Amino acid sequence: MRAMLWPDASVEEHRKELDAWMANAGSLPSTIFACEGDDDPAALAGFIEVGSRSHADGCDPARPVGFVEGWFVEERYRRRGVGTKLMRAAEEWARARGCRQMASDALIDNVTSHRAHEAAGFEVVDQCVHFRKAL
Ligand SMILES: CC(C)(COP(=O)(O)OP(=O)(O)OC[C@H]1O[C@@H](n2cnc3c(N)ncnc32)[C@H](O)[C@@H]1OP(=O)(O)O)[C@@H](O)C(=O)NCCC(=O)NCCS
Repeated sequence: MRAMLWPDASVEEHRKELDAWMANAGSLPSTIFACEGDDDPAALAGFIEVGSRSHADGCDPARPVGFVEGWFVEERYRRRGVGTKLMRAAEEWARARGCRQMASDALIDNVTSHRAHEAAGFEVVDQCVHFRKAL
């Protein structure tokens, strides 16, 4: 599912990144919630990756912020409330770690994600263009 959400990397690259992410006990806390499919409990319906960041755009810089690093629901399970349940689990996790705000981001043309964030209670605080230059 990670490879479907971020197709620029292969399944193997995602596996390695995930192993490193899970083993990274020294950094700020993070976790993953997954939702089982109702027809096949062995297959997952969706996942959310959530972490705690020291700051996020538009949020109170004085407190840690819960940050949605990834949010994905298999196509056949969409519009059935799975994404909402995953987001609630992520929010409870962040609240329990002292966060009073939740932040997230989405590509400018990912209108589905914008609608789903709005439905989950998020508001747009910023729009940004990222630059890069080799040194
Ligand atoms: C974003 C995503 C996780 C939402 O998951 P989901 O399980 O479909 O979400 P829910 O069923 O809980 O939807 C909650 C609400 O969000 C809004 N919403 C969700 N999908 C929508 C769509 N395609 N169009 C308009 N509104 C939508 C609706 O208000 C919906 O409530 P409703 O169905 O009662 O109208 C899912 O669409 C997905 O995986 N998309 C592809 C990956 C992605 O873009 N992830 C976000 C990256 S930033």
